[in-house]
Amino acid sequence: MKFLTLDNVKDLNGRLVLLRIDINSPILKGKIQNNERIKEHAKTINELIRKKAKVVIIAHQGRKGQSDFTSLREHSKLLSRYTIKRIRFVDDILGNKALMNIYNIRSGQVILLENLRYLDEENKEMSNYDNSKLVLMFKDLFDLFVFDGFSVSHRNSASVTGLGNNIITIAGRVMEKELNHLNKLENIKRPYVMILGGDKPDDVVNLIESKINSVDYVLTGGILAELCLMAKGVDLGAKSAYIRSKGYDDVIPRIKKFVNSEKIIIPYDFAVEKNNKRIEMGVKLFPSKLLIYDLGKRTILNYKSIIIHTSTIYMKGPLSHYEIKGFDHATKEILKAVAKSKAFSIVGGGHTLDSVNKYIGNKKINYTSLAGGALLDYMAGKKLPGLMILESWANRFDL
Ligand code: 3PG
Repeated sequence: MKFLTLDNVKDLNGRLVLLRIDINSPILKGKIQNNERIKEHAKTINELIRKKAKVVIIAHQGRKGQSDFTSLREHSKLLSRYTIKRIRFVDDILGNKALMNIYNIRSGQVILLENLRYLDEENKEMSNYDNSKLVLMFKDLFDLFVFDGFSVSHRNSASVTGLGNNIITIAGRVMEKELNHLNKLENIKRPYVMILGGDKPDDVVNLIESKINSVDYVLTGGILAELCLMAKGVDLGAKSAYIRSKGYDDVIPRIKKFVNSEKIIIPYDFAVEKNNKRIEMGVKLFPSKLLIYDLGKRTILNYKSIIIHTSTIYMKGPLSHYEIKGFDHATKEILKAVAKSKAFSIVGGGHTLDSVNKYIGNKKINYTSLAGGALLDYMAGKKLPGLMILESWANRFDL
């Protein structure tokens, strides 16, 4: 795929640059967790500072109505740990405060605007964003749009396709690194195993539907594993009730279509929590009033035996609530098995990367992507709207 990069721009001194990054981060007990996205995007920011651009950063955190939907104030502090100049946070996006700060910014200075998803239009899927407030206000203001968030390039939104269609758009260094890696993934060697967990079941169900014919096994964890059991008619008790309360069960009719395939590997047992203690429980013992936080021992052993014999592994989403003491077994053990195996390994997603760093270090994985859903869509062969924008600017400049 063709795209323009920072190397295609000769002089950034004094140029007003709009930088779209993806620092959507895990939050634990109300605290934004430091993570690889922050560290990696800081590299692009530092390059822009060194090149004396005037940098305005835009980004999002969480989804409206969910517990991780919050301000970007803390993100600016975390980013500033890695940048050569402090990043100033401006708690506004389209108002006078934002405009005044943008006008007054000096060469080599950086500001971060407030969470884009505070804007209603950023949360709406539209066929065209040319008349969105964000595009109308920013399109003639900025000299260049640096799109660095590969992990958000699957979202058709005002801050991705809207701005990208209206301002010259190039890839930032994070985007460039991801795309260069992905270009190498043309020929996937079999056996190919996908290890899928996490808490965004929609995304992984899409992937399974599109790739079931080209994978050998799908090892399920997290909400996906529980949904697969529910699709087979198993009542998990408290966990089933939780899943229904979140509306995650919407995908069950779709899961029913593939769950009986021999390729879909589901748990035999789980670990539930009682008085802060881990209790192993076979699937046959459900329903239970206790909540599931991890896969059980026998399931983990089975998954490890499959991982040993594979040539390519793609892992997305932690397999358990690894952040809770005593419930990290599946996430930790499976990652260790992936690290030990000779297979080519690809891992993506904010929480997944966090667990990689915690248990094995990212040097043990062949390709760690900062993206979760975007990588999923890419792997499923979908055209990502953000990447189409980059390609169209490369075509216009006849790269
Ligand atoms: C991510 O964390 O995968 C991206 O920031 C996209 O987030 P979203 O799935 O809430 O759009």
